[in-house]
Amino acid sequence: MSVDVILGLQWGDEGKGKIVDFLADQYDLVCRFQGGPNAGHTIKIGSDKYVLHTIPSGIFRENIINVIGNGVVLDPITFVKEMNTLEKSGIEFLSRLLIARKAHIILPTHRFLDKASEAAKGAAKIGSTLKGIGPTYMDKTGRNGMRIGDIHLPDFESRYNILKEKHLGLLKMYPEVEFDLAQQESDFFESIEIIRKLRLINGEYYINAALSEGKKVLAEGAQGSMLDIDFGTYPFVTSSNTISAGVCSGLGIAPNKIKEVIGIAKAYCTRVGSGPFPTELHDETGEKLRSVGHEFGATTGRPRRCGWIDIPQLKYTIMLNGVTQVVITKLDVLDTFEQISVCTDYHYDNMISEELPFDMVGVDIAPQFVHYDGWNESVDHVTTYDGLPLKTRDYVNHLQQHLKTKISMVSTGPERHKLFLL
Ligand code: GDP
Ligand code: IMO
Ligand code: MG
Repeated sequence: MSVDVILGLQWGDEGKGKIVDFLADQYDLVCRFQGGPNAGHTIKIGSDKYVLHTIPSGIFRENIINVIGNGVVLDPITFVKEMNTLEKSGIEFLSRLLIARKAHIILPTHRFLDKASEAAKGAAKIGSTLKGIGPTYMDKTGRNGMRIGDIHLPDFESRYNILKEKHLGLLKMYPEVEFDLAQQESDFFESIEIIRKLRLINGEYYINAALSEGKKVLAEGAQGSMLDIDFGTYPFVTSSNTISAGVCSGLGIAPNKIKEVIGIAKAYCTRVGSGPFPTELHDETGEKLRSVGHEFGATTGRPRRCGWIDIPQLKYTIMLNGVTQVVITKLDVLDTFEQISVCTDYHYDNMISEELPFDMVGVDIAPQFVHYDGWNESVDHVTTYDGLPLKTRDYVNHLQQHLKTKISMVSTGPERHKLFLL
């Protein structure tokens, strides 16, 4: 069978976790293909709230296999903490959680290097989650990295020591950066012992065999397309390919296996960390989006920057990903806004354009807006799409027309059942 993909179309935190959890029971496998514990995917089931960082969001659905793909970078310490939290909640998952041997390992010293790199950038810092993502992918492409499969090698510890020593050499350039290696190292090796008991797979063979047997695979993206290492707002990006192209390299499946690409976008827009954000609001409307939308990072707790939805930006990421359907989340957050604005074009370099400039950092972009009336009522009680206020549905229709792509679902709350098919 085929692979469907769920990924973020903005700067992350679009509500991917909720949508993956909702759709997961239509699949046999849910697979993360990139990123690592920089991700924070929130899932609300009844009154329980879970935040997943490395474990795929299909884990709450019985019988579904969850794979951490080769494109992921895994921090043994945070991963084992995440497993413990799930275990304490009474969720049985060990037999359904598999890790690709080719996934790379985040060492404690990768995290220290992340901290050092950000400190050295000063005001120009990326606003990294400091989870060691950049340095780990640098070691991967620099051909120095360690992979999860290496934990079963007899010389694992000596390989670890060689890489650690290299990192400690680099860290000497940043004497002001403090770290407690002894404690972290002991946690690291304890966590490795636990991971040794888990099932490691040759992910590319496992997933392709599942597809040949007619199984359905859902690939779960992390971050958002505007944080893609190639196409995002470089250098204010993460270090992996967050777009659909990353599914092939991050799981070992061929492009012709991909069918639906489901792009998730908020009904407005947020960004956490530094970097360009053309429609950002620095006024009380932005404050209101943040407080009504509870826009604080699921991984770091940082306040998210908020602004209006941005059509040129979304058209760009729809193009890059080959999006076949869009899901609009957090529509309920707009319940009390008198007027809702939508950016339709960018004004820069004395022209009006829908095209994102090469360097979004260096160009002063003035977003051009159209305005729509808000619906000014709560959608909390609504149980069908047609039960939504007319103006809410009008807003969704306007977005669909602007995006020229089918909007297949809208979400009106964090809970599983607050999702309507159009
Ligand atoms: P992800 O990283 O894309 O999975 O998204 P996050 O979990 O970081 O952030 C999305 C936040 O919005 C979480 O707190 C979700 O519980 C919440 N959420 C998801 N969908 C909706 C929605 O339709 N309405 C509201 N109000 N909250 C939502
Ligand atoms: P989910 O999967 C939002 C941002 C960071 C920073 C930049 C680089 O929950 O949507 P990194 O730690 O990767 O070096 O940080 O990317 N970032 C995210 N922003 N959601 C995420 O993940 C993010 N993961 C990284 O804030 O600006
Ligand atoms: Mg998140």
